[in-house]
Amino acid sequence: MKVVVISTSPRKIAKTQVFMKFITEYTNSLGLEDLEVKFINLSDGGIDYYTGDGNFSDTTKQAIKNVTEADVWIIGTPIYNSFFSSALKNLFEYIDYKKTAGKTAGLIIVASGNSGFTDVQTLLTQLMSYFNVITNPRSVFVTADTVKDAQITSEDVKSRLKQLVDETLELARKVSND
Ligand SMILES: Cc1cc2nc3c(=O)[nH]c(=O)nc-3n(C[C@H](O)[C@H](O)[C@H](O)COP(=O)(O)O)c2cc1C
Repeated sequence: MKVVVISTSPRKIAKTQVFMKFITEYTNSLGLEDLEVKFINLSDGGIDYYTGDGNFSDTTKQAIKNVTEADVWIIGTPIYNSFFSSALKNLFEYIDYKKTAGKTAGLIIVASGNSGFTDVQTLLTQLMSYFNVITNPRSVFVTADTVKDAQITSEDVKSRLKQLVDETLELARKVSND
């Protein structure tokens, strides 16, 4: 099973990438032979702004390949202005919805306050549905203050992130009937 972990904050000093690196390390640490884990970090830059003219960088090409080939998408987004990250949406403009049916997604949403989580969960689940992707209904909601000096300071957050990975992989196995 191929897993792609995607951190969709474009900020160089993003907190989202801290959670997503933790997810990547945890998924790798499971030591499951059938798992191949890739990490796309939009804080690293290199993904082109979508223009539709077919000219894009190798980084963009590789990201399209990794997203399209993965069975499982673990997506982390910050809330910006009550929406998910525009960098996330930009990446998905490159993805062909005819090639994504039957995949499974797990979502992590990062914000400074608690009021926007369910709205953004709904929006992102809707985007996943457009791609015919089944979304784990139990997203992880985390506030940005649980990261200090690029480290997660809350054991509860770590435990919820691990649970999301475990449950999303289990859901993916059921969906693919392996
Ligand atoms: C442009 C912008 C808009 C934001 N809008 C919201 C918002 O609507 N609701 C909220 O709870 N936090 C909001 N925040 C706070 C971010 O969610 C928070 O800073 C988070 O750490 C951003 O993730 P990042 O560090 O991975 O970029 C906003 C931050 C920025 C930079």
